[in-house]
Amino acid sequence: MRAVEFQEYGGPEVLGVVEADVPEPGPGQVSVDVAYTGVNFADLKARSEGYRVTDLPFRPGLEVSGRVRAVGEGVVGLTAGQEVTALTGGGAYADVVLADAVTVFPLPTGVDPRTAAALPTVLPTAYALVHSVGRLQPGETVLVQGAAGGVGTVAGQLAKAAGAGAVYGVVSGAAKAAYAREQGYDEVFVGEFAEPVRAATGGRGVDLVLDPVGGDTLRAGLASLAVFGRLVSFGNASSAPAWSVGQPELYPQGVSVGGFSILTLARTAPGELRSLAERAFAKAVDGTVSLPVTAEFALEEAAEAHRLMGARTSTGKLLLRVGGAH
Ligand SMILES: NC(=O)c1ccc[n+]([C@@H]2O[C@H](COP(=O)([O-])OP(=O)(O)OC[C@H]3O[C@@H](n4cnc5c(N)ncnc54)[C@H](OP(=O)(O)O)[C@@H]3O)[C@@H](O)[C@H]2O)c1
Repeated sequence: MRAVEFQEYGGPEVLGVVEADVPEPGPGQVSVDVAYTGVNFADLKARSEGYRVTDLPFRPGLEVSGRVRAVGEGVVGLTAGQEVTALTGGGAYADVVLADAVTVFPLPTGVDPRTAAALPTVLPTAYALVHSVGRLQPGETVLVQGAAGGVGTVAGQLAKAAGAGAVYGVVSGAAKAAYAREQGYDEVFVGEFAEPVRAATGGRGVDLVLDPVGGDTLRAGLASLAVFGRLVSFGNASSAPAWSVGQPELYPQGVSVGGFSILTLARTAPGELRSLAERAFAKAVDGTVSLPVTAEFALEEAAEAHRLMGARTSTGKLLLRVGGAH
């Protein structure tokens, strides 16, 4: 089978197509014949700086749609040939990938395989940010960094659907701002956001900040919170040193900071992850959220997908076409 791997860290050019053995599922696992693979920013971080990479060569890829190929010992409720969508621990840039059965889901009703490949990482993450960790209440205001990307697109829609009073986005360019507004953001700021947020909220600040950037952006987000506001950290796109906050930031206005990682949750609390994902997928089934796939590449063109996302010009979701491409 074909797989895309890298042997060293670097730019998109380190991604190469190799011929690999078809993996066999171990106990509690299934193998999936991949139809589509979703591209995540975490794949770029793995390639460029070794994020969550344990060994080289490394095969990226965290989410797929496809059909169950084989079922490992002890797996119940999944059968060969069944159409599924799955969160994987890695390895999804390939014709066949292994996944723990607990993170493999029947294709959500009415959702086509192309759309289904875009959902497993982004949608449960956004759902957790808005509801489980962010605990958004009707009428509250929200600020989302990276508003035009995969998580950002869905987080804005979920926040609106939860009754947010206003949902503000932050992006790096004008085209992304236009896209995010089309996806339902009330106002989108390009780059600098601290002053515009104060102005937009009459000086009050926002109730909830969702931050995948870290560093100075996280600090500015904290400073943009209203009294009793919450910030949820869920990434470090800026590659800044790890942040820490304490009494000086939290006490004066009673703000709190939370965090979320879907990949870690899949390991530490797989049952919670499954129930979170089911609630989140229901939002795609009932039409509350939609996630545009804005570009699709053949598996062999994975480097092009990385170039597009790495240049900060992508919006919505990028996919790799795997089955059907050969
Ligand atoms: N914790 C979790 O469970 C979890 C799950 C999924 C994703 N994430 C995180 O969520 C973020 C979005 O992921 P995605 O896969 O949906 O990707 P994406 O948003 O589709 O694309 C990458 C995003 O990163 C931003 N970005 C790129 N380089 C940046 C930089 N140097 N500084 C600041 N922002 C930069 C871009 O926003 P602008 O160009 O508009 O700034 C863009 O929105 C990533 O940080 C990812 O690691 C976390």
